[in-house]
Amino acid sequence: MEIVICPDATEAGRLGANAIVALLQRKPDAVLGLATGSSPMAIYDELVRRRQSGEVSFAQARAFTLDEYVGLASDHRETYHNVIRRDFVDRVDFAPAAVHGPDGLAADLPAVCHEYEEAIVTAGGVDLQILGIGTDGHIGFNEPSSSLASRTRIKTLATQTRIDNARFFGGDVDQVPTHCITQGLGTIMDARHVVLVASGHGKAEAVHQLAEGPVSAMWPATILQHHPHVTVLLDEAAAGRV
Ligand code: GLP
Repeated sequence: MEIVICPDATEAGRLGANAIVALLQRKPDAVLGLATGSSPMAIYDELVRRRQSGEVSFAQARAFTLDEYVGLASDHRETYHNVIRRDFVDRVDFAPAAVHGPDGLAADLPAVCHEYEEAIVTAGGVDLQILGIGTDGHIGFNEPSSSLASRTRIKTLATQTRIDNARFFGGDVDQVPTHCITQGLGTIMDARHVVLVASGHGKAEAVHQLAEGPVSAMWPATILQHHPHVTVLLDEAAAGRV
């Protein structure tokens, strides 16, 4: 695991973007794993700038998002489908059908999970997975106690995660869905390169566990200690306990 402590989140974003630009220059039809949340925004903003300067194109790239809330209306601002389009996908030149996410409104959610796993494999697997990390050490929505070998499945959201995410739902935790679909830890571990980005004091404990804690389902991100190619990009606050 390579850990890079940057002066600020903007620099961490620049380094994350560098990895993606280099990948797409080498392999224009690469498969990206996209994460929502505030952490990857510095990467996405930098990628938008690099796209505008003509340095990189996403026209042949494919992408899979990590997770989705269950039960939010398709026109709800906070479905991760809508969030990732607004935050990144619609700001660059992805082909319309190239970005995939699990359907949190489907009647048969277990079938959706199974098909999502198959779609990732059919695409050739994820070349580079962008990750944030929750304050409780979750990645995707793999909450504490998740199986370290889990695949895409339905999960109940932890109370802490619903509290953390209430800011996107008018501050009202009751508006935050109770369930989600998430790629599993085993799914994430299949990505060829994982780039995890974290900023702020609130992430310092989770980052400490990720880097120095024992591998444990109680801190799901610690499974990444077993991944052969992980880059962790931190600002100084998030690195406060490493
Ligand atoms: C959500 C997402 C995660 C993300 C986490 C942290 O729970 N499912 O993928 O890493 O939030 O979000 P933020 O980066 O906004 O702190």
